[in-house]
Amino acid sequence: MIKLGVNIDHVATLRQARKEIFPSVVKAAALCEKAGANSITAHLREDRRHIQDKDIYDLRQSLKTKLNLEMAVNEEIINIALDVKPDYVCLVPEKRMELTTEGGLDAAGQKEKLAKAVAKLKRAGIIVSMFIDPDIAQTDACKEIQADCVELHTGRYARCFKEYGADSKEFKEELERIRSASAKAVENGLILNAGHGLDYDNIKPICSIAKMNEFNIGFAIIAESVFSGLESAVKKIKDLMKI
Ligand code: PXP
Repeated sequence: MIKLGVNIDHVATLRQARKEIFPSVVKAAALCEKAGANSITAHLREDRRHIQDKDIYDLRQSLKTKLNLEMAVNEEIINIALDVKPDYVCLVPEKRMELTTEGGLDAAGQKEKLAKAVAKLKRAGIIVSMFIDPDIAQTDACKEIQADCVELHTGRYARCFKEYGADSKEFKEELERIRSASAKAVENGLILNAGHGLDYDNIKPICSIAKMNEFNIGFAIIAESVFSGLESAVKKIKDLMKI
């Protein structure tokens, strides 16, 4: 069974829209866990547009499953990670103006910098994942810098599904690209995760990838929760992930 990490950033997006103290990310995370989430992901962005520092500390205290901290390779945030000690961190690229994380990390192009960050985080007992495009060279770079996991970026997969459909050449090619990068990641001894843009409509085909450990899904679940409630939204996607 593929595990589900629920990204709760957009509960904080709603809260920050009014600079309120609700809706609570701790309460949201607890409901996700109750509904079967295997981990909770939160992205502490440099601009603090949704998740705040206190959220990370509060989640660390309250979670019964695992905390996955998404973060840029930035000294301030690395120091917070070393203090909080989440179970996992996922290193992502960050651009100030982007609506959401746009591309994967260029692991191959910045091996030295990333290797230092990976070593520092691993020394603190944190499992380190790299958010990369489904690309063989990037997957090899993750092994070289001794990351523990990869999270393959499924943004293009989601876009091809939406724009061209599941039977299109574009979608099938992207699924194959993910399949090849996944096989390489497993061959390289890396734990295989994937995420970004996954939703209730596009989740099925990617569930067929061998050795997939976990999907990280945020926006679609939080959006669905507006209509059906958070527990039901989590259960619904977990049901679709059964293969
Ligand atoms: N994984 C990573 C690395 C991300 O940056 C995001 C978006 O915050 C997600 C997964 C979840 O993407 P979505 O919200 O589109 O499900």
